[in-house]
Amino acid sequence: MSIRFDASNLLAEMVGEEHGLTPAEIRKAQPGAHDALSQFHAAVKAGDYGFPHLPFDRNLIREILAYAASVRGSYDTVCLVGIGGSALGAWALDCALRGPHPVQKAFSPANPRLVILDNVDPSFLLSAIESMRPKKTLVVVAAKSGATAETVAAFLIVKQWLEAALGSKASRRIVAITSQSRGDLKKLAVAEGYRTFHLPENVGGRFSVLSAIGLAPAALVGMDIRRIAKGAAAMTSACWKQDLEVNLALQAALLHHLIWTRRSKPVQVAFPYSNRLWGIAFWFRQLWAESLGKARNRKGETVHAGQTPVAALGTTDQHSQVQLYMEGPNDKVFTFWGVGTFPNPGPIPKTKTGMAAFDYLGGRTLAKLIHAERVSTEAALTANQRPNCTFLLDRVDAVHVGAFLQLMEFETAFMGEMLDVNAFDQEGVELGKKYTFGLMGRKGFEEFSAQFRSYEARRKALKGSVTS
Ligand code: PA5
Repeated sequence: MSIRFDASNLLAEMVGEEHGLTPAEIRKAQPGAHDALSQFHAAVKAGDYGFPHLPFDRNLIREILAYAASVRGSYDTVCLVGIGGSALGAWALDCALRGPHPVQKAFSPANPRLVILDNVDPSFLLSAIESMRPKKTLVVVAAKSGATAETVAAFLIVKQWLEAALGSKASRRIVAITSQSRGDLKKLAVAEGYRTFHLPENVGGRFSVLSAIGLAPAALVGMDIRRIAKGAAAMTSACWKQDLEVNLALQAALLHHLIWTRRSKPVQVAFPYSNRLWGIAFWFRQLWAESLGKARNRKGETVHAGQTPVAALGTTDQHSQVQLYMEGPNDKVFTFWGVGTFPNPGPIPKTKTGMAAFDYLGGRTLAKLIHAERVSTEAALTANQRPNCTFLLDRVDAVHVGAFLQLMEFETAFMGEMLDVNAFDQEGVELGKKYTFGLMGRKGFEEFSAQFRSYEARRKALKGSVTS
C-alpha cells in the first residue's frame, strides 16, 4: 500500500511568504502537533472515541461476511435507507470500488445494485422505489440515533412497499444498523425480528464508515471488506507514530492548520483527479465541515471555527471552477488527490488527421493525460501564489481506499485537537431538526413549532420591504 503526501507547494519558497509557510514556522509548530497526537491517543485509550479500533474488529467483519454469504443470490438490489454519516460512507466505498454511478457494470444477483435513499425529495425517492423489485431487494436501514426524520419517513414507505409484496416475510429482507442500547429503530428491529448490526456508542455517524454502517452494505454488494479493513488497520498504525514522515495524517493536519489559521485560508478544496474518488470527496465534506465547524472551543469560548470544504473533480472542474481558483480571492488551500496507476491506462488511438489539435494525443494514454492535467493545474496555481498539496494513492483498490478513509478521519481528529474544539459532536444541526419535528407534529416539540410560527410571523410582517 502506498499513499504519499507532497506538501512542497504549501511552502513560501513556492508560493511566497504571504501565502506559504516557512520551514522555521513548521518546525516551531511541531510540538503542538505532537501534543494533539498525545491528547487524541489518551482520549481513545480512555474509550472516548472508537473509530481507530474499527478496522481491528474481526468479529464484526466475520459476522457481516457470514450474513452476506447466507443471503447472497436472493436479491439484485441493496436499498440503503440512511442519511449523512449513515449513507455517505457506503456511497464513497461503492463509488471507489465498483465505479462511479451510473457507469458500473451490469447489475445481477452476483453484482447487486446499491440504491441509497438519502433524501426525502418525493420525486427522487418514489422513482428510486419504482426502479426496484421488492422480491429482489434487500433493505438496509441505517440510523445511529434510530430517530432521524428523513430516514424514518423513507423507511416507513419502503417497509410498506416490501410488505405489500412479501407480507409477513418482509422482515426477513430488512437489516437494521443502529445503536445497541437506544433508539426506536432498535426497538422496532427487536419487535419485528430484523437482522441487526450495531455500531459502538463511541463512534459518531461521520466516523462510522468502517463500522457496520459502511461495511455491511459494502459486503452485501460484494466488496472485499477484509481488504478495506486491512488498509485501514495499516494506516491506523501509521497514524499513532510521532514521525511526521510516517504519520501523514498528523503531517497534513499540522500543515493544513498552519496554512488555514496563519495564512487565512478559510476554504479547502478537495480536488480528486479520479471519478472513483468523487464519492470520498463528498464523504470528506461532511467529515471536515461537521467535525470542525464549531461555535465554541473546549474552554467554552466563542470561536466560530471552521474551514469550508469544497469538492471539485479533476479534470472536469478545470472547465468550471479553476478560473475562480486562479484569479478570485486567495482564500483557499487546494488538496489534490492523485492516482498513480489505473488498471487500464486508456490508450488513445494513433491518428494521422493532419490536425494539430488531434495528432499529438494519438498513441498516448488517458492516464498520462489526467496526470499531466493535474500536475499542470498544481503548477499553474503555484505560479499564482495559491498554496496546494497532493495526496497520491498508488491505486484505487480496497486496501488504499480503507487506508485513505482512515487517514482522513485521523487528520480530522488531530485538527480538532489543534483547534481545541470537540470534533465529535454536532450541536449546530439540532435546532433545525427540532423545528422540523415541531412542524411535523412530533410529541414533545410543541415549543419549537411555536418558535417557528413566531419566526414566520416576523417574516410575513416584512412582506414587500425588500423591494420597496
Ligand atoms: O455525523 C453525524 O453524527 C451525523 O451527520 C449523522 O450521521 C446524521 O445526522 C445521521 O444520523 P443517524 O445515523 O442517527 O440517522
